[in-house]
Parts: sequence; C-alpha cells; structure tokens
Amino acid sequence: MTLAENARFAFTPDMTICRVLNGMWQVSGGHGRIDSAAAVEAMFAYHEAGLSTWDLADHYGPAEDLIGAFRRQFAARYGEGRLGEIQAFTKWVPPPGAMTRRVVEDAIDVSRRRMGADRLDLLQFHWWDYSDRRYLDALKHLADLRDEGKIRQLALTNFDTDRLVVIVDHGIRIVSNQVQYSLVDQRPAARMAAFCASHGITLLTYGTLLGGLLSEAWLGRAEPNRGSLATISQQKYKNMIDAWGGWTLFQQLLAALKNIADKHGLNIAAVGLRAILDRPAVAGVIVGARLGLAEHIAANSRVFDLTLAPDDLAPLEPVIAQSRDLMRVIGDCGDEYR
Ligand SMILES: NC(=O)c1ccc[n+]([C@@H]2O[C@H](COP(=O)([O-])OP(=O)(O)OC[C@H]3O[C@@H](n4cnc5c(N)ncnc54)[C@H](OP(=O)(O)O)[C@@H]3O)[C@@H](O)[C@H]2O)c1
Repeated sequence: MTLAENARFAFTPDMTICRVLNGMWQVSGGHGRIDSAAAVEAMFAYHEAGLSTWDLADHYGPAEDLIGAFRRQFAARYGEGRLGEIQAFTKWVPPPGAMTRRVVEDAIDVSRRRMGADRLDLLQFHWWDYSDRRYLDALKHLADLRDEGKIRQLALTNFDTDRLVVIVDHGIRIVSNQVQYSLVDQRPAARMAAFCASHGITLLTYGTLLGGLLSEAWLGRAEPNRGSLATISQQKYKNMIDAWGGWTLFQQLLAALKNIADKHGLNIAAVGLRAILDRPAVAGVIVGARLGLAEHIAANSRVFDLTLAPDDLAPLEPVIAQSRDLMRVIGDCGDEYR
C-alpha cells in the first residue's frame, strides 16, 4: 500500500511525518491485554503501510520500551541506515517538583535509553499546575538539551493559549502543541489555532475519533453506560460527548457524518479525521492503536484519498450549533487536566 502524497508533512525543516500518527496510550492498560511480541510485529505493519510516526509518553506503560524493541528489530531487518524512517514522539509528564538540570536530563536519559535512541525526535512537555511557574525552568533545560543534541525538537502537550504566549515570550522555541481536537471538541479553533498559525507552531491532535465512538459501530446505538464501554478511551470521550450536548445530539452528528461518508464512499472515521486535518495549524491527527488486538490501517490510510469541499461539511453545522460551548464549560485546551 502506498499512501497518497499528501500523507507526508514537513513537520520541521529536518523531519517529515505521516499526518496520521499512531497513538500508543492504548498499550498502557485499560484497552485490552497487550502482548509485547505481537505489538512489535504489528508496528511493522503500520510502518510498511507508510504510517511511520508514533505518539507515546514516558507514562504510557511499556510504550517507550516497545519503540526500543521495534527500533532494534527494524535495524536488524532493514539495517541501521533506515532507522531514520521512524519518527517516535514521546512526552515527559513530570510530577510537581524542582526542575533542575539534573532532574530534567535524568528523565530525558531514561526515555533515550528505553527507546534506544541517542536523540529523541520530539519531546512533548506536560505540566499540571500553571501557578507553579517552574514549567519555565523545565522548558529552559529542555531547550538546552535540544541544543546539545539529546532532543531533536521541543514541543508541548495540553498547554493553553495563555501559557503558550508566556512560553513564546520567554524566547523558548517549540514546534507543536498536542491537544484534544475533534468535531465534538473544537476548542482549539477558538484561540489556540490562530496563535499557533501566526507563530510557526503546529497542532498534533488526539481524541479526533473519540476513542472509536465516532464511527459506524456507534451509529443508531442506544446510549451506553460507563460499564459497557470497552476501553478507558471510550469512557473519557463519552464524558466529553455528555459535556458537549449528549448522546441524542451525538447520534445526529453521526447520522450527518454517515451521509457525507457515503457520498465519498468512505467511512465516518475518515471524514472525522479529514475534517480536523484540514483545520488551520493542524500538522497531524493521532489515532490510538491497540497493537496486536485491532487495526484500521487500510481504512485510515484512505483519509489521504479524501478531499472535502468547503460545503461538504455544511450539514454538520446545524447539529454542532446545538452543542454547548466547551470553552465555557471546560476552558481552553488542556483545562480538563487541571
Ligand atoms: N496528550 C494527551 O493528553 C493525550 C490524551 C489522550 C490521547 N493521547 C494520544 O492520542 C492517541 C489517541 O488516543 P485516543 O484515546 O484519543 O483515541 P482515538 O484515537 O480517538 O480512538 C482510538 C480508537 O478508535 C478506533 N478506530 C481507529 N480507527 C478507526 C476506524 N477507521 N473506524 C472505526 N474505529 C476506529 C480504534 O478502536 P478499536 O481498537 O476498538 O478498533 C482505536 O482504538 C493516544 O494513543 C495518545 O497517543 C494524548
């Protein structure tokens, strides 16, 4: 399978990525039992399909170790020279505390060791409490580690627009912010995307498929209760749907999406992904992968064959117009974690 040309994106001058990234939160528990050997074998299938970019974190269970194992086996199979085909974007989510050079560097060294990489392709930094301004200390040390070559590019996850302004004003160069962005949760469109677009920062998005709820599988289904949802991802996004407008309105959204999908001979997920890929500042959408348990490689690759005309999405507008304003209900991007 060869992906259409628009699948690749010049994320930075030194790195292109696949615009559908494979998300590895799904290996960290709560999404079915993951077998390491089967998971690594599955990673080859993603890579060979062109889905070469991975999103993970230090706290996603074995995710960094799986990248390490995948890189080792990949080098053995194809030669070390081809390792540059893989992009592995991790995160550092430190507990509160002093952000000394030692603390920061030790954390980065652990990720480098686990992932078997001298240099991390992308380090996405998360911070829990904005009243503790030591996030700026951490970012300064991370920027130094980037300049010294342990990190290729520095990025953020779940930072709001106000803090993005502070970070940029401190002269800290970051390339992206990872945020929740879907047809249901459109908060990034309120302030974040415009600021990013005007400062050369891109967005990597998660929750774009609402844990799989944004699909034919849930069209026409009665409202699930929490216990009947198979993954913690689905539970997380069911809460988001409730905050947004509830299950009945969500069914109207799915029905409208199904009509659009049928018109293009694709599925609901493809339309949901393409709609966000087409938004300003978005570099890529992350799709969670339950490695070795389930895969949607062929279906999600077809996103790159889909072109949405501006009026294709118009039927969604009357539905979305009935939803609540999540900027008011929750706050800006990432506020759900604070
Ligand atoms: N920065 C953060 O705070 C944060 C938070 C959450 C997630 N993330 C990142 O984003 C990634 C995405 O995770 P998410 O929880 O947001 O989940 P998601 O990507 O919205 O949903 C993933 C699920 O969607 C289903 N799916 C995928 N393609 C499909 C298709 N074509 N048709 C129907 N269903 C499809 C799969 O379900 P089945 O496996 O059941 O088939 C898959 O497990 C994570 O792995 C992580 O890397 C980051």
